[in-house]
Amino acid sequence: MRRVLSPDPETTAALGARVASLLFEGAVVLLSGDLGAGKTCFSQGLARGLGVVGTVQSPTFVLVMEYPEARVPLRHADLYRLDRAEEAVALGIEERVGYDGAWVIEWSDRFPQLWPDDRLELRFAHAELGRVIEAVATGPKHAPLLDAFGAAS
Ligand SMILES: Nc1ncnc2c1ncn2[C@@H]1O[C@H](COP(=O)(O)OP(=O)(O)OP(=O)(O)O)[C@@H](O)[C@H]1O
Ligand SMILES: [Mg+2]
Repeated sequence: MRRVLSPDPETTAALGARVASLLFEGAVVLLSGDLGAGKTCFSQGLARGLGVVGTVQSPTFVLVMEYPEARVPLRHADLYRLDRAEEAVALGIEERVGYDGAWVIEWSDRFPQLWPDDRLELRFAHAELGRVIEAVATGPKHAPLLDAFGAAS
């Protein structure tokens, strides 16, 4: 597990861009943490790092934003407003994640049963001096993405 302190939004976005540089087709990046903890900020940096130039808005209301122009086609989801796992399944999320481009998913912890075994999990939390981000890779495909978070701790 890697734990990093991010003192400001710029640092959180830069971490997203570092993950982006290692991102691959089929990557699954799961984000959890309280309201305002930095999940969208991280996702915006990740999208920028993949070459997305336009606005990267929070997908809170649209559920999934797609960026086919990215270096790896990017899908940015926010499941906060979904009530039940059946709704996520109905959206086709379960069958697309892990295959159809790279996915970064806010509030993924609401539906833990939907995700592939091999993924990068990031937990965001408010801290006295900014935000703390804990990163775990659950399989060999995503293990290299931990390098973006620096030395192990
Ligand atoms: N170190 C930091 N990293 C990220 N954001 C920070 C940091 N310090 C302050 N902020 C501020 O906290 C807010 C984070 O908002 P953001 O939308 O990224 O959170 P979120 O986790 O996506 O919330 P939600 O659950 O509502 O989607 C922004 O207003 C940002 O400017
Ligand atoms: Mg958000």
